[in-house]
Amino acid sequence: MMNEHIERVLISTEEIQETVKKLGKQISEDYKDKKLILVGILKGSVVFMTDLMREIDILCDIDFIAVSSYGKGTKTTGRVNLLKDLSEPVEGCDVLVVEDIVDSGVTLSYILKYLINRNPNSVKLCSLLDKPSGRIVEVNVDYIGRTIPDEFVVGYGLDYAEKYRNLPYIGVLKREIYSK
Ligand code: IMP
Ligand code: MG
Repeated sequence: MMNEHIERVLISTEEIQETVKKLGKQISEDYKDKKLILVGILKGSVVFMTDLMREIDILCDIDFIAVSSYGKGTKTTGRVNLLKDLSEPVEGCDVLVVEDIVDSGVTLSYILKYLINRNPNSVKLCSLLDKPSGRIVEVNVDYIGRTIPDEFVVGYGLDYAEKYRNLPYIGVLKREIYSK
């Protein structure tokens, strides 16, 4: 059972729901006169993205890009590769990047530069989780769901070696799972 690999629940399903609702409400207000496009970062953001978009009650487009930087480890390699590009132009649009977690900041700062080169009207960042203690590169995250301590978490889209994304809550992974 997946649950047995979890040290403890950090954020319950109900707490996540509340957090996502709040974010959606704020975003709906801030973007009501804009051309909003949500750009989710695959694969970690998918669960958050599908919930967040339903808490947004203004017109918006969605798109996804995929990058990789972690491989199978729990710390960034510092290199980011683009695996899947945007499927529509974002020129003149108000892009809101949707990410699962900001740790070192390497992934988001790469994506930010990449998107700015596509001439959007604006680019802002929304992350469900923020782990400020891991920061290597400074990034300004405009919308943050929850700030968490320096622990490796999984669930609600977040993985370890591609597993645990389907957990309905966010939990701290037992150290013995990744220190083998
Ligand atoms: P950064 O480039 O170090 O900021 O890392 C961002 C990416 O690393 C996220 O999109 C996640 O996929 C992954 N990541 C960072 N911390 C965690 C964690 O605690 N659990 C699962 N994935 C994480
Ligand atoms: Mg990941």
